Amino acid sequence: MARDILFSGIQPSGQLNIGHYFGAVKNWLRMQEDFDCMFSLVNLHAITVRQDPVALRKRSLDFVAAYMACGIDPEKSIIFAQSDVPEHSELMWLLSCHTYMGELERMTQYKDKIAKHTDNVNLGLFSYPVLMAADILLYQTKAVPVGADQKQHLELARDLANRMNNAYGKLFTQPEPYIPSTEDGGRIMSLLEPEKKMSKSDENAGNYIALLDEPNVIRKKLKRAVTDTDTVIRYDREHKPGVSNLLTLLSGATGKPIAALEVDYAGKGYGHLKTDTGEAIVALLEPIQANFHHLRNDETELTRVMEQGAEKARIRAHSTLNKVKKAMGLI
Ligand code: TRP
Repeated sequence: MARDILFSGIQPSGQLNIGHYFGAVKNWLRMQEDFDCMFSLVNLHAITVRQDPVALRKRSLDFVAAYMACGIDPEKSIIFAQSDVPEHSELMWLLSCHTYMGELERMTQYKDKIAKHTDNVNLGLFSYPVLMAADILLYQTKAVPVGADQKQHLELARDLANRMNNAYGKLFTQPEPYIPSTEDGGRIMSLLEPEKKMSKSDENAGNYIALLDEPNVIRKKLKRAVTDTDTVIRYDREHKPGVSNLLTLLSGATGKPIAALEVDYAGKGYGHLKTDTGEAIVALLEPIQANFHHLRNDETELTRVMEQGAEKARIRAHSTLNKVKKAMGLI
């Protein structure tokens, strides 16, 4: 039986960190079994802010190798670069002609970005959500795993699917947000400021654990993690964000439920919790890092995997785009 299509777009920006692993990649490993998954490196979205071409290319390959090292399997899922499938840009134009200025002007991410990049308020920043809608609709996507910051964009994709289907007959599947059920592992907070999310683009590297951090760096960062003046190891996001974050990390890395960890650590000190969390993360990342270096060293093979993914994606993309063009009277 055909499985539902799941589409996820990955921005090749910043540095992959462990928050991203627990919050996204680990879930994808499960989705990979339940859905027909498409993971796209969205490099056309990435260039809405200035990129150094050499660095962008390198980082793109780093990202693909990292995802594969974590277990995204090109035999099970389609992994490809957005720029390798020209249909994304083409469908975007067709959708642009059905998107209202007001819909894009309301986008909160756009408003934030033009405030931040005042020297480069380009058209791509504005039409970004239309390209994202094209990514999703091109593959008859049913499920889109998105965080809160992308909800508004997905909503536009849903509106456009409806609008186009009403105008031209059924062209697109209506995509739905997909929120994977995780215990709590989804939210990894910054190590030094545990009230905010661990971010891969944080300026202070002490705030996050990069996927490729050396074991001793990981140990040191955890030792410095902010806790609180209390001494009890208890999960309480509101009053004990730092300690709760350590418990979340330890639970994520060992697979042990947080409640069981609270029992294990009754009467023990924060130092103990930090050391054990550090060791658990080192153990989790060791095989991933080894895989990464192995994959990343063979660029020819990595490029071949990407090309193969793009070929599979193009077949699907072509089929939707043809249908749309025909329905719109484009000869
Ligand atoms: N805009 C998304 C982000 O920044 C990335 C993205 C692009 C995406 N195209 C997508 C996500 C399609 C889901 C589906 O995270």
